[in-house]
Order: sequence, then C-alpha cells, then structure tokens
Amino acid sequence: MTSLTLLLWIAFGIAAQFAIFLAVSFWQHWKKYTALSLRSDPDEPVLPQEPAQPATDAGGASWTGFRPFRVVRKEAEDETGSVCSFYLESEDKRPLPHFLPGQFLTFRLEVPSSAGGTEEIVRCYSLSDAPRPDLFRVSIKRVPAPPDSALPPGRSSNYFHDHVDPGSRLMVRAPSGHFHIDRSDTPVVLIAGGIGITPMLSMLNWCAAEQPGREVWLFYGVRDEREMVMLPHLREIAERHPNVHLRLCISNPGTERGSEAADVRRGRVDVALLRMELPLKPYHFYICGPTPMMESLVPALEDWGVPDSHIHFEAFGPASIKRRAKSARASVVSEEPVAETGLTVTFAKSGKKLAWDGGSGSLLELAETGGVNVPSGCRAGSCGTCQTKIESGEVGYRQEPDFDPEPGTCLLCVCVPRTALTLGA
Ligand SMILES: Cc1cc2nc3c(=O)[nH]c(=O)nc-3n(C[C@H](O)[C@H](O)[C@H](O)COP(=O)(O)OP(=O)(O)OC[C@H]3O[C@@H](n4cnc5c(N)ncnc54)[C@H](O)[C@@H]3O)c2cc1C
Ligand code: FES
Repeated sequence: MTSLTLLLWIAFGIAAQFAIFLAVSFWQHWKKYTALSLRSDPDEPVLPQEPAQPATDAGGASWTGFRPFRVVRKEAEDETGSVCSFYLESEDKRPLPHFLPGQFLTFRLEVPSSAGGTEEIVRCYSLSDAPRPDLFRVSIKRVPAPPDSALPPGRSSNYFHDHVDPGSRLMVRAPSGHFHIDRSDTPVVLIAGGIGITPMLSMLNWCAAEQPGREVWLFYGVRDEREMVMLPHLREIAERHPNVHLRLCISNPGTERGSEAADVRRGRVDVALLRMELPLKPYHFYICGPTPMMESLVPALEDWGVPDSHIHFEAFGPASIKRRAKSARASVVSEEPVAETGLTVTFAKSGKKLAWDGGSGSLLELAETGGVNVPSGCRAGSCGTCQTKIESGEVGYRQEPDFDPEPGTCLLCVCVPRTALTLGA
C-alpha cells in the first residue's frame, strides 16, 4: 500500500466517524422532536394519566346533597382585598373526603333579594389548597357591577365578602369536577389568569407536598401586581422547591413594582412566552383563566404541536373554546355546529314556543331571552341548577358538564337542540 492510499484510508475513516456522529445526533434530536409532537418521551416509560388520588380515597366518606359547614377563618389574600379565603369545617367534625386537586365545591346560599327577603342561589368555587382531612379552603374574588351599568354587583361573591364571617353556616355539596391534576410524574405547566389561580394553588400545593421531585411550572397572569393572590406563598414554594418554576406575568404596563424581580415578566401569558421559557419536554398543560385568555391559548397550544390529550382547562363561566384536534373531547365546541337552525323549542310548563336560530348561545339563553324562567347558577355545567326534563327531542352538549344530569334531563346552560324539542320548563 502506498502512503497516498494509506492517507486516503485514514481520511475515509475520519469522514465515516464524523458521518456516524452526525447521524446519531440527528437521530437523538429526531426522537426528542417526535416525543414533543406525540407527547411521549421515548427515554421515559409512558405513564398512564391517573387521578391525583385513588378513586377509593382514604379520607372521610363523600356525601350527596348539601352538608352544613362552619367558616372557621377568613383572610384577605391580595393587596387590594378583592380576594378572600374562607376556611370551612364540617359541622359534624367528621373527616373530609380527599378531593382531586383542581376540583370545586358547590354552595347553596340564601342571599338578600332585590324584592326584599332572601332568595336561594347556587355557585361553585374551586378548592384552593391541597386536600386535608379537617378543612376545605375556597378563595373568592369580589365581582363588581360592570362599569357604567345599572346592573347589580355579583350576588354570591359580594355576599361572601360582606356577610360570611367566622361562625357563618354554609350548605355545601361534596367536591366534584373533571378538571384535576394526575398523579404521574409527568412534568406539568399550570397557567392561571386572575382568579383562575385557585385550582392551580391546590395543584401546586399538592405537588409540592406529595411529589416534590415533579417538575412544575406556574405561569400566573394578572393585570396589576397588587391583584396577585398569595404571592409570598407562591414565592416561598418556588424558593423551597428547585423543581417549581414561577413566572408572574403583569399585563398592565406601569403597575409592575417588582418588575426587576427574576420571576416577573411583562405582558400576557402567551405561546411566545411559553416557547421562550419551557425546555423541550412532554408537558401536560392545565389552564384556568378568563374566557378570552383560554379561547386564544388553547388553540395556540394546539398550533404549537401540543396534543389535545395534554391540554386540560376549566372556565369559571360560559366559554366556547374551539379545539382543532379531531380527537377533541366532548368538553369543547366542535368545528361542526351541533345545532340545526329553524328548530322549534317548546317550553311546556310556560306554554312558550321559541325558534332556535343556531346562534352561539345555549338553551338557557334562549329561555331567558324568551321570558321563560329557568333557575341557573354556574352557567357552566357545574352546579346542576338548570337541570330540566326533556319531554321529547334530542340535545347536544357544547362542553362536557361536571354535573351528571339525571336520565331524561339536560343542563340547559351547556346544551343546544339537535332536533325539535319539548322541555319541562
Ligand atoms: C367550576 C367553577 C369554579 C369556580 N371557582 C371560583 C373560585 O375559585 N373563585 C372565584 O372567585 N370564582 C370562582 N368561580 C366563579 C363563581 O362561581 C361565580 O361565578 C362568581 O363568584 C360570580 O358570581 P356572583 O354571584 O358573585 O355574580 P353574579 O350575580 O352571578 O353576577 C355576575 C356578573 O353579572 C352581572 N350581572 C348582574 N345581573 C345581571 C343581569 N341581569 N344581566 C347581565 N349581567 C348581570 C354582575 O354585575 C356581575 O358582574 C367558579 C365557577 C365555576 C363554574
Ligand atoms: S347553571 Fe349550573 S349546571 Fe347549568
């Protein structure tokens, strides 16, 4: 072999090694990329999504109907005093059932009526702490009247702030709801807007106590820094747990007094920020916030490549979150309209026939516009107050309800007609 041939062989060997190195690197990146888009990390075993507590929990027994509770503590939680926490103890002092972090309680309240006397209303509030056997905690934001309107302020939230104190008795339905964190060790991104922080607090506190090794990101968006709920607590958790990453996003310029802090970001929580902050991992996203935030963020996450099964969200009121993915759960409005136009909805008890125009509203809104009196509470399929008998015809659900309607009934606040309908209202 001549020295030239030897040189050529050596050069070929080096080139081959380099090519193999490039191919292996490319393969590893490709695996990560597909893992992100399929949301299963090839380097980790695929973990089934399990609820945060086993279905047969070790806490006290659950209950049906409303159970009496006493308020034992009331605390303001933000600088403006617009959010208050209420700590509730069962009147019979029996241990409370475990709940799944993210779930809510339903309250039946007797509030002052505008006509004098009192009237009964039903509202839902998320549990805002990790499960414990002796106390439930809810954190409630005072809802003012819309600016420049003659409408009254929010009845339940103002009643809580002004009339519910330690010693007050409250009637409460057992914890429920489909929006809750799982107990696998999959990394999670919690996204809260405004008072949407409450279920995230429960998830975060539970993860910090029960799963300290789990990677958790909390993106918390508010307009004004003074509106931040339990800020010292959030910072303390992030300081104590290296796996917890806190990002505070302030959207109203000029109100961020602590903007030099490392965890503060200017602007809203959006996908651009998530892309900048998050490493490439198969995160599950839990989102709760105002309707416009969720209506933009959920499709934007899907556009980014996050699979439908990794996006979990809850709205505190009427919302129509459009999802692109074909596998979208029943909890969303599909791209195909569920309802036909030109259908007649007969409200048998009130003797009214109303035309359904296929708009974006619900059967509850149709009833209210047509002067049919239907009691309502959450307007989000959570409390069961608007449950109404279906005498004939079929309905479709715009979102998956948390409350299970009895057979032969439907929840008007989240339903639209599929055929001509006769309802028992
Ligand atoms: C699952 C779930 C969990 C929730 N968790 C929380 C939580 O953790 N913390 C929290 O603070 N909230 C939470 N909410 C929201 C909460 O249930 C209530 O919706 C909220 O407190 C407002 O209720 P309200 O009775 O005070 O207001 P409402 O009396 O229902 O009034 C709401 C708004 O409508 C206006 N209004 C009044 N009359 C009219 C009218 N005739 N026409 C039009 N507008 C009118 C009011 O001025 C007010 O701005 C949750 C909701 C759900 C569904
Ligand atoms: S109003 Fe609560 S379920 Fe319809």
